[in-house]
Amino acid sequence: MEKYVIKGGRKLSGVLEIESAKNSVLPIIAASILTSDEVIIKNCPKISDVLTMIKILRSMGVKCCFQDKNLIINPSGLNAYTVPENLGKELRASVCMMGALISRAKKARLSYPGGCDIGLRPIDIHLSCLKELGVNVTEICGEIICSAKKLTGKEIYLDFPSVGATENLMLAAVFAEGKTEIHNPAKEPEIVDLMCFLNAMGAKVYGAGTSIILIEGVKELHGAVYRPMPDRIEAGTYLIAAAITGGEIELRNGRIKNISALVHKLCDNTCKISIKNDIMYLKSGASRKSFSFSTGPYPGFPTDLQPQAMSLACVSSGVSVVTENVFEMRYKHVAELIKMGADITVQGRTAVIKGVDRLNGATVSASDLRGGAALVLAGLSAEGKTVVEEIRYVERGYLDMEKKLTMLGADVKRKG
Ligand code: UD1
Repeated sequence: MEKYVIKGGRKLSGVLEIESAKNSVLPIIAASILTSDEVIIKNCPKISDVLTMIKILRSMGVKCCFQDKNLIINPSGLNAYTVPENLGKELRASVCMMGALISRAKKARLSYPGGCDIGLRPIDIHLSCLKELGVNVTEICGEIICSAKKLTGKEIYLDFPSVGATENLMLAAVFAEGKTEIHNPAKEPEIVDLMCFLNAMGAKVYGAGTSIILIEGVKELHGAVYRPMPDRIEAGTYLIAAAITGGEIELRNGRIKNISALVHKLCDNTCKISIKNDIMYLKSGASRKSFSFSTGPYPGFPTDLQPQAMSLACVSSGVSVVTENVFEMRYKHVAELIKMGADITVQGRTAVIKGVDRLNGATVSASDLRGGAALVLAGLSAEGKTVVEEIRYVERGYLDMEKKLTMLGADVKRKG
C-alpha cells in the first residue's frame, strides 16, 4: 500500500506550474469520440483517473497514446458502446461516456459510475435530461441501457446545476436536431472549457458559464488540438499548502479568477495575494484568523477545496464554521484530522472547528481524493511525523504531489 511519510513543520517556498484541470480533461476525453478524426489534448496530466479514462476508450477500439505531455486520441476505430463495469466504477467522470456514446452512436450501456465516496451521487438528473432529448433509458440488473432513434433539441430545466448532468447534456445535444437550451446549468469553469473544446471541433455551443446554454445541433464534428484550462483545485490546494505552513508560493498558469472564493478567504486569513497576468503570488501572514465558509455551486466556494481548507481552519485561531452544501457525506477526513489533534464537531452538514496551535503527526488514511489532500496539508503543518495511507485516492487527481511538495521545501517521501 503506497503512502506518504511527511515530516511536518517546514515552510513551503517556491514556484509551481499548475497542470491542466482533471475535471476538464476527463469530459474532454469522453467528448473526443464525437469525431472520427484525431484529437490532441495538450498538457494532459498522467493522473490515474486519466489513465482509467484512456482504458475505457481503448476498450471501445479507440487508439490513445501519450507523446510527451500530449494525449493523442484516434477515435476512428470506435467499435463498442459499453463502458466496462470494472473501469466505470473507478471514476465518476465515466458517466460522461453516456452522453458521448449516445451522441455518436445512438446507443450506450454502462453501470452506475463510481468515484469518491462523498455522498449518494445519484444520476437521476443526467437520465431525465437525456430522456427529454429523446433517449430511451432502461435499467436491467444495475446496468443502464440507452438508445435513441433520433435526438431532438429542446428547452431543458435542470432541478440542480449538476456539473456531470450539464456535461452529459451538452455532449448528447451537439448532434440533436434543432436547438437545445439548458436552463439552470452548472456554471463551473470546466463547463466553459468543455464548450470551448466542442466548438474547437466545430460544434455550436453558446453561453456556458451563464444561466442558459444554447446548443445548435450540427451534422458532424472534426478533430481538434486543445489545451485544457489549468486545474483550479490543484492551484487552490497548493495555495492552502503554502498558507498552512506559513510559507509563500508563486503559481504559474493559475487563472486566479476561477478560485476567487478561496482567494478572498485566504486574504481574510491574513495571507497577502498578488496577481499579475497568469501568475499568482501568496505570502502567509504572521497569524491566522478563523476560516469559515459554505460550499456551493460555482462561483461559490468549491466543495473540492472544502477538506483542504478545513485543515487550514484547524490551525487558525478562534472558531471556524464550515458548511458543506454540495455533497452530504464529505466529512470523512474529519475523523483523521481529529487523530492529529484537531478539535472538530460535525452536526449534519456543518462542522465547527476550534483552532489549535499545532496539529500532531499521526498515521491517517485517505478515503477520497480531496480528503486525502487535506491530510497531506495537515501533515505538512503538524509537529513530527505523519503517515498518510491509501494515497491511491490522492493520486487519482494530483500529479507527482510528493515531488512538487519536495521542490517547494517540504519533507515528503512516497513509500510503496
Ligand atoms: C463534479 C466534479 C467533482 C465536484 C462536483 C461539484 C468531475 C469529474 N467531478 O462531480 O469533483 O466535486 O462536480 O463541483 O467533474 N446530483 C443528483 N442527481 C444527479 C446529479 C447530481 O442528485 O443526477 C447531486 C449530487 O449527489 C451532489 C450534487 O448534485 O450532491 C452535485 O453533483 P454534481 O454537480 O453532479 O457533481 P459531479 O458531476 O458528480
